[in-house]
Amino acid sequence: MPQTVLITGTGRAMGLGFNLVKRYLENGDTVFASVRRPSEALETLRGDYAGRLHILTMDISSTESVNAAAREAEKLTDRLDLIINNATTASADTNKELPDFDLDLIAPAVNVGAVGPVRVVKAFLPLLKKSAIGGLIVNISSEAGSIGKCYRAYYLDYGTEKAALNMLTMTLHNWLKDDPDINIFCLHPGWMRTWPGEAPLDPYEHAETLRNLFEAKRRDKDGPVFITYEGKPYPW
Ligand SMILES: NC(=O)c1ccc[n+]([C@@H]2O[C@H](COP(=O)([O-])OP(=O)(O)OC[C@H]3O[C@@H](n4cnc5c(N)ncnc54)[C@H](OP(=O)(O)O)[C@@H]3O)[C@@H](O)[C@H]2O)c1
Repeated sequence: MPQTVLITGTGRAMGLGFNLVKRYLENGDTVFASVRRPSEALETLRGDYAGRLHILTMDISSTESVNAAAREAEKLTDRLDLIINNATTASADTNKELPDFDLDLIAPAVNVGAVGPVRVVKAFLPLLKKSAIGGLIVNISSEAGSIGKCYRAYYLDYGTEKAALNMLTMTLHNWLKDDPDINIFCLHPGWMRTWPGEAPLDPYEHAETLRNLFEAKRRDKDGPVFITYEGKPYPW
């Protein structure tokens, strides 16, 4: 049965978000794709999938912006089946260590990368609760958010926001534990070529692996909450 999916941070053609949008559209689903500024790549895709791709403008650092986007979506659909919190940020200092890092950049990064996804969940939950197949929330995290496996002396912003996202995911998982029809987990998606470089995973190919994983995990409420793209538990 076709589903209705919300994916955040979808404007960059090389990015994971855009490639997830493509995969869900190719699968016959309806997609709400959010961006914070116009994306030519998405506009072109909308031409190919008229009626099934809705582009929402949403800055996840702003509660007002997220709530406005949810109101917009409510005019266009009566339900959501899946929310993929993909949008994230990293500051210009992300590769620097303490002496050179501007610490005032950490809080804004946490506001986007950790609080942002929860803003989205809070605003869109009424639609997700109307899913007939069991609503699923996937927060795209990173191995960089694992405290147990942390080996870097940089990523003061990015590592912190992903660790906070993991904590918020577990907290929401606890909050939703008695609701059999909503599941939530966070994911280390693997190292993808979403930027020019030598990462092993192609984002378009990998988006299909992730799409299949999400379906397999939709109702797996008792499984691990922080997982890899192979569905295996990852240390918090
Ligand atoms: N690439 C990897 O190897 C890798 C590894 C581990 C985890 N991840 C995670 O996988 C996800 C996708 O990775 P990626 O490299 O494709 O991501 P990305 O391009 O760096 O970021 C995704 C999107 O987030 C959007 N964004 C930034 N700030 C925002 C805000 N305030 N409101 C709304 N959207 C905002 C960006 O929009 P703009 O285009 O407007 O800037 C961008 O399109 C991320 O969560 C990342 O942390 C990636």
